[in-house]
Amino acid sequence: MSKFQGIRACVFDAYGTLFDVHGPLRKLAPEVGEKAEEISRLWRQKQLEYTWLRSLMGVHADFWHVTGDALDYALEVHGVAEPGLKDELMALYLKLEAYPEVAAALEAVRSRGKQTVILSNGSPSMLDSAVRHAGLEKLFNFVLSVEDVGIYKPSRRVYRHAMQKLTIHDAPSICFASANTWDAQAAAQFGFQVARVDRFGSIDDRIPGKPAALIKDLSELAGLV
Ligand code: LAC
Repeated sequence: MSKFQGIRACVFDAYGTLFDVHGPLRKLAPEVGEKAEEISRLWRQKQLEYTWLRSLMGVHADFWHVTGDALDYALEVHGVAEPGLKDELMALYLKLEAYPEVAAALEAVRSRGKQTVILSNGSPSMLDSAVRHAGLEKLFNFVLSVEDVGIYKPSRRVYRHAMQKLTIHDAPSICFASANTWDAQAAAQFGFQVARVDRFGSIDDRIPGKPAALIKDLSELAGLV
């Protein structure tokens, strides 16, 4: 894997990349039962689909709303209607755990003089809560939400927003890290130098855009930039 050249900032996806979105159902698995893993997978899938559908339809709602809708769908498909369960899962979504290597990986990237930024679908309050819960608030220059733009990834407007906020005018000066294949590929197609984090053993989607590097987790990132 060759080193990225000319990187000034590292931009990180949040959910699935920094934060483990399957934590809430793992935690409540004893009460939800054997369907917990499948509900979590469907919740995440529908959450993403609803962002794409709403962006195409031109009817934006923030990620908290979309995440709640997706959870309602997943619980109904699996016939789960325990009172209070949805609220409990949503509350846990505000306190997701960061993957174990994240803090040290961010410190390593920053010690190389690169800015570190989040660029996420999450609403500002969701991101603020997750970053604080994980104790990462000192490790980012700033946190950017698609709420500033009013459309979800992978709209090019979202990736352009990061460039504008960083006042970096050439896309290849930005390293983008995401564990979501479609996000990594779209960011590469946009022009960032992308490291896809292989957390889920996924293969690339059949869409344009090829990440420059595939890393097993974020501990490998500082060595690339
Ligand atoms: C995010 C979603 C894509 O954080 O995971 O933007």
